[in-house]
Amino acid sequence: MTQQFQHDVLVIGSGAAGLSLALNLPSDVRVAVLSKGDLHNGSTFWAQGGVAAVLDDTDTVQSHVEDTLNAGGGLCHEDAVRFTVEHSREAIEWLIAQGVPFTRDDSSEHDDGHFEYHLTREGGHSHRRIIHAADATGAAIFTALLEQARQRPNIELLEQRVAVDLITERRLGLSGDRCLGAYVLDRRSGEVDTFGARFTIVATGGAAKVYLYTSNPDGACGDGIAMAWRAGCRVANLEFNQFHPTCLYHPQAKSFLVTEALRGEGAILKLPNGDRFMPRFDPRGELAPRDIVARAIDHEMKRLGVDCVYLDISHKPAEFVKAHFPTVYERCLTFGIDITRQPIPVVPAAHYTCGGVMVDQQGRTDVPGLYAIGETSFTGLHGANRMASNSLLECFVYGRSAAADIIAQLPSTPMPEQLPRWDASQVTDSDEDVIIAHNWDELRRFMWDYVGIVRTTKRLQRAQHRVRLLLDEIDEFYSNYKVSRDLIELRNLAQVAELMIRSAMERKESRGLHYTLDYPLMLDEAVDTVLDPNTAV
Ligand code: FAD
Ligand code: SIN
Repeated sequence: MTQQFQHDVLVIGSGAAGLSLALNLPSDVRVAVLSKGDLHNGSTFWAQGGVAAVLDDTDTVQSHVEDTLNAGGGLCHEDAVRFTVEHSREAIEWLIAQGVPFTRDDSSEHDDGHFEYHLTREGGHSHRRIIHAADATGAAIFTALLEQARQRPNIELLEQRVAVDLITERRLGLSGDRCLGAYVLDRRSGEVDTFGARFTIVATGGAAKVYLYTSNPDGACGDGIAMAWRAGCRVANLEFNQFHPTCLYHPQAKSFLVTEALRGEGAILKLPNGDRFMPRFDPRGELAPRDIVARAIDHEMKRLGVDCVYLDISHKPAEFVKAHFPTVYERCLTFGIDITRQPIPVVPAAHYTCGGVMVDQQGRTDVPGLYAIGETSFTGLHGANRMASNSLLECFVYGRSAAADIIAQLPSTPMPEQLPRWDASQVTDSDEDVIIAHNWDELRRFMWDYVGIVRTTKRLQRAQHRVRLLLDEIDEFYSNYKVSRDLIELRNLAQVAELMIRSAMERKESRGLHYTLDYPLMLDEAVDTVLDPNTAV
């Protein structure tokens, strides 16, 4: 039997964005936080490098803003960049107050006996400004925030709940556009329950799983982007898919990132013959922004016909390497690679979705009552290429601003009336799950081959043709069979892939992460690619 729930605030996603929004709400607000798997299912838990923030006396807001604008290829919204960076110190202070054990810098003890935190560097940053917990920053942040959330009686943490679709007045045939909650599959019962809420937040992370090779965990399927699109929200800049330059290349290593902080601490990228190559591509060498480094690696791998390049930090003292990068050290060692003595085989892999659901500075989408925060959203911060460690920062800054906006609106926002239950009367159990598995593989492979680091119009046309066929097939399947997590994710991935391809085809230039051989130059004017579901294609 399906169930009906009501909360003041429904947060879909238990990563950095969702948890920080929930924790910024007062204790008399009833909040549900959903995760489609275990609570640590999202990317947050796996973040390595850290959080970018202006913390050091020698650093300035202006410098962080300029670095972000430079990395973003002329497409960042300066107001969003400034807003985020200006709130960066406050975000870190909040995290420290939540108990996040950032790594301290034991080389600089203050007179008062307190230690400063250690700041590392990453690509595009002209200062050391990445605060971190060794090389497992995401796990440290997630654990502290989860611990806080568990102590708050007003916050219900619900695992194994997969949001299927948002409930809007429009969907129910009512006048108005407001979001009233979501239909949510409970994986334990197999039923789709109804969650009514005064405010709904999509904080479902990115969509890098659309590619065959990715640094992301399995759930990064763009669910929030697809749900918000179907609910009537505009999306922007989905052609900008960031490929992280250095993921471990090993047949048994699934999705393991080798943090950019290694390069920040002096690691060098080398060809199989030991030659350093980055200075040929950019004067900043290994610390050029990610789009440049990933493209250079891709270029060298294709030129030489090799399967990977190498990242070498073995010239640094072994104790330093082990102390700063224990996660990378241990993980590589399980594959027989001792990074204190050997270079690490690496390849680029899909890492971050720079575009997303369009929001304002409070995280408000086009649909009243619906917010988008974190990697799901498009705030204008990242432009054509996100600068390293600005992503977690965005989660905390917008988690807080969205919470403040909701608090201000709660007194005047009624709880939605009883909502209709999910109708499963026309569907049966699927007897052909092979279709889901096949379509999933096909989608991720053609996205990798045709919509990857280097694109052409012809490849994009091929991808578009295929994704439209897949969408038809998936729609038919979805109408006839009961929903499962796999089907929900495939439907969303295919939808987001279609939006990514369409956005890429609209951009007739190369800028940041979007590089096409047919339009290799950057146009003078930087314009966002905005897609509107209310406008027919
Ligand atoms: P996530 O943390 O991805 O959380 C998404 C949540 O949504 C999960 O709880 C998931 O279960 C839930 N969810 C998704 N779909 C549904 C659904 N349909 N129903 C219910 N729940 C759903 N950024 C940095 O700034 N610094 C770093 O050092 C850094 N390192 C990284 C390292 C790795 C390996 C990866 C993959 C990313 C890294 N990033 C880093 C990027 C950053 O971690 C992410 O952008 C950020 O954590 C996203 O947080 P989020 O809260 O938006 O989403
Ligand atoms: C990393 O540690 O290299 C990832 C940082 C990021 O994605 O911002």
